[in-house]
Amino acid sequence: MKFLSPAKINLYLKVICRRTDGYHSLETLFERVSLCDEITISAVKGNIRFSCSDPALPKDSTNLAYRAALLLRNRFNVRNGARIHLKKRIPVAAGLGGGSSNAATVLLGLNKVWRLKLSQQTLLELAAELGSDVPFFILNTSFALAESRGEKLCVYKPAERAKIWHCLVKPPFGISTKEAYGALKAPICPKSRKSSDSLTLQKANAKMLLHSIHEGRSNDLSKLLTNSLEVIQNNRVATILKIKEKLIQCGAIGSLMSGSGSTVFGIFRTRKEAQQAARFFQKKKDWRVFIASTF
Ligand code: C5P
Repeated sequence: MKFLSPAKINLYLKVICRRTDGYHSLETLFERVSLCDEITISAVKGNIRFSCSDPALPKDSTNLAYRAALLLRNRFNVRNGARIHLKKRIPVAAGLGGGSSNAATVLLGLNKVWRLKLSQQTLLELAAELGSDVPFFILNTSFALAESRGEKLCVYKPAERAKIWHCLVKPPFGISTKEAYGALKAPICPKSRKSSDSLTLQKANAKMLLHSIHEGRSNDLSKLLTNSLEVIQNNRVATILKIKEKLIQCGAIGSLMSGSGSTVFGIFRTRKEAQQAARFFQKKKDWRVFIASTF
């Protein structure tokens, strides 16, 4: 069976505070986008056999997709094995959630292939064990608000028709998530934080943001598109800021770094405008450029 494994971008990402468990508490709006890897899974006798189109990616348990298969097999005492092949398009260390999405797709795929009939709740819990961004990809939704370390989710359904066009630009360098958070000097989290208040505020924020995109109000949008992780150290931040600026010059109504980077996305009114911007960045050697829309 073949499964699509989509990327995500974060339309905003606010790091609130540093927790004592090594994670950060955050608020973010996830958007699932149409840039996809492809995962083929078939049931076989024996063990898990994992292969990948990208020779640079690890094929052992340091690969999150492989780890997802092992977790599922061990937790539910599955005797069957599986052959899993990952066709990679989403760049790694890019802030696009590629690895997290692959892990979620393997959980969803094996649940079908092995006929485990696990509930969405169980899959969400397994996903949260694998990584903070994995649960989002278990939900079958284009948008979700997240808090805590990113695993506490609320499906978001925009009022307006919400297909957004993007040009995604990944410079030659990647950024590790751990490093991006490590560079932040966020305050330690207070003992009690009311998450229900923050969810109400987040819903209002998301509504304003998507409305500004729908209406093409770039001034309002620029205030709403924020990412606390854009302050990455050393000269990489200069490149990120240049891409953001260039995307705006190329006609984007807004631009932002996605997640922990290094991909920067532009928001465009039409596919054609996104393609025009892509043409500029495609000239650069070793840069990866994609057109993607809400998925
Ligand atoms: O959850 P995940 O394994 O993807 O996180 C990778 C690293 O990113 C963590 O070890 C942590 O250093 C950082 N992180 C964080 N706060 C989050 C998510 C990730 O500090 N909410």
